[in-house]
Amino acid sequence: MADLKGKVALVTGAARGIGAAIATKLAECGANVAICDLKAEWCDETVAALKARGVEAKGYGVNVAVSAEVDACVKAVLADFGRVDIMVNNAGITKDGLLMRMSDDDWDAVLNVNLKGTFLFTRAVARPMMKNKAPDGTPLGGSIINIASVVGIMGNAGQANYTASKGGVIALTKTTAKELGSRNIRCNAVAPGFIQSKMTDVLPENVRKAYMDTIPLRRFGTALDIAKAVAWLAGDDASYVTGQIISVNGGMIG
Ligand code: NAI
Repeated sequence: MADLKGKVALVTGAARGIGAAIATKLAECGANVAICDLKAEWCDETVAALKARGVEAKGYGVNVAVSAEVDACVKAVLADFGRVDIMVNNAGITKDGLLMRMSDDDWDAVLNVNLKGTFLFTRAVARPMMKNKAPDGTPLGGSIINIASVVGIMGNAGQANYTASKGGVIALTKTTAKELGSRNIRCNAVAPGFIQSKMTDVLPENVRKAYMDTIPLRRFGTALDIAKAVAWLAGDDASYVTGQIISVNGGMIG
């Protein structure tokens, strides 16, 4: 298990689902965790669960798509926790529909949360991460982990907005790694396959079966499967890993 004692992590969209599992796993590894979601009170349950593990935790309300809110959130986290070592851009939404019928609003909403939100938080934490130094002045940098998706790699009918946003997250991950690598800030993405969650629970049974037939491991993934990959990327065991897209998809695609 990664040793994250004394580190501070900031996880977006962490009131529930994969984000809550990531926050919990990072706390289990010893990190103090700032959790954000659209409303601070939605984070209460996750915050209580983390505190019960003996780490510091606090919830923040922020819309990741709004620049001023993101900057204010990072400022508040720095005031409360003093630093950010691990940034997990997890908040994401879907608004599915066939491309020919997709409205401008549905396109914009998904791109704004999934892609712009990832950019805004990355930009806001970059400078504070650059300032993270060991007592002897060695730059400690940080680890940024973006949650992409298998469909951002392979495309998916009915998800033009979502696939484009996640493909964008993948490209942004690689660029961030190139720009910030010299400051010891690593940036990687985890690309989940089909994960059991509120997002996928709504899919009809025939669609779920069609997905299952494409998964060599013959099971849907869990939020914990994703959280484990994130914790590894956050810690020193991944200290020479940056600009990578780690697929956690049961073998759906190589
Ligand atoms: P979820 O819908 O259960 O959780 C998403 C969280 O993000 C919610 O708590 C929601 O309130 C929050 N959120 C939404 N818009 C926000 C905004 N504008 N500002 C702040 N927070 C906001 O979704 P799930 O399944 O946990 O997904 C988490 C991430 O994993 C997303 O980026 C999703 O695209 C990605 N993913 C999920 C897969 C799945 O099978 N569930 C597969 C591949 C990727």
